Amino acid sequence: MRAALYEGQTPDLILVDDIEVEEPRADEVLVRIANCGICHSDITLVDLMAGSGDVSVLGHEAAGTVEAVGPMVTSLAPGDKVLLTPLAPCGSCYWCSRGEPTACHEAQLFASGFRPDGTTPLSRSGAPVKRGLGVAGFGEYTIVRAAGAVKLAPDTPLDIACVIGCAIQTGVGAVINTAKVDPGATVLVTGLGGIGISVVQGARLAGAAKIIVSDPVASRREAAMHFGATQAIDPLSDDVAALSLESTGGIGVDYAFEAAGVAALVNTCLTSVRVGGSAVIVGVDATLGSAEVMPASLVTHGKSLVGSLLGDCHPQRDIPKFVDLWRRGLLDLESMISHRFDLANANAGLDNVRAANGIRTVLTVST
Ligand SMILES: NC(=O)c1ccc[n+]([C@@H]2O[C@H](COP(=O)([O-])OP(=O)(O)OC[C@H]3O[C@@H](n4cnc5c(N)ncnc54)[C@H](O)[C@@H]3O)[C@@H](O)[C@H]2O)c1
Ligand SMILES: [Zn+2]
Ligand SMILES: [Zn+2]
Repeated sequence: MRAALYEGQTPDLILVDDIEVEEPRADEVLVRIANCGICHSDITLVDLMAGSGDVSVLGHEAAGTVEAVGPMVTSLAPGDKVLLTPLAPCGSCYWCSRGEPTACHEAQLFASGFRPDGTTPLSRSGAPVKRGLGVAGFGEYTIVRAAGAVKLAPDTPLDIACVIGCAIQTGVGAVINTAKVDPGATVLVTGLGGIGISVVQGARLAGAAKIIVSDPVASRREAAMHFGATQAIDPLSDDVAALSLESTGGIGVDYAFEAAGVAALVNTCLTSVRVGGSAVIVGVDATLGSAEVMPASLVTHGKSLVGSLLGDCHPQRDIPKFVDLWRRGLLDLESMISHRFDLANANAGLDNVRAANGIRTVLTVST
């Protein structure tokens, strides 16, 4: 099969056609990938893995068609369209039973690129190839646990629905699952790529009264207004926290979402939220930069600082809900997809994401 491999040598992926993929194990499915969006986390992985010697297939925002199922799988059959999710909770452990799927041990292993037993279904000339962030969407075939593949109706367009896999789960989930934004709330969103735009869409869906956004890229600020933002701030020329306070009568916003992956914005968000408000950290700083937070101010102002992994989504519950919201015209996926590249041009796609062009870049992996 063809796959775009990251070998940790250069910032570029290499396209190869001699990757081997195993037969699915008892609880796994073999999926032919149709489309996969490129998330900034793929770029972050390239940055963090440089020089590690690891070989992996990146891409974790994918949709495709089931080719084969393991003997224990009853929920899916060959020919089913599926949306893949990076975090596949087991569904039966203590944490899953508590309704905390992102704390599930098996889900937490997604970033390792391996199965819980340390193996991977992908190899090249007998050497293991990791599954990027749990999916390996930049290749024609992958194997995932059935729990991580959500069945879609046969008429679902995979080239559009794929962005639900990471952007929508992460952004809309951060609003409705992590923060539980209430109607009439005031919201700040810093960073307006696929993730931040999904936060904006989530805030609009939740009935937020004010959605203030910030990004140095003017075209992304304009796009955010289309998706429901009510005020856009250029952080290069204006003080985001000061304007957020001013826009809320000096009170501060109820919720501030960091969706840029810039550590310093943690304090921008904390300063922007009102007494008793929440700063929700969604972005991952690729430099692993840190931010100084004064705990005393959290206490005296009763502010919350919380991280959100993949929007705390329950994939089998939330993904069908997001597809339904899209079908009803309440989530706009089409306008998020600004660029498409074939798998052979995956590097141009990655460069497009690095350059913050458009909103989401999607690879056509197979047709
Ligand atoms: N928490 C999760 O589960 C999760 C899931 C997916 C992605 N992420 C992370 O979310 C972040 C965003 O991902 P994306 O794919 O949308 O990335 P992206 O590169 O498309 O967008 C990031 C945006 O942040 C903007 N930005 C940079 N500096 C800024 C500043 N000082 N103020 C405001 N905006 C600024 C950029 O101009 C860009 O538009 C990344 O860090 C990514 O790794 C987290
Ligand atoms: Zn992602
Ligand atoms: Zn579990």
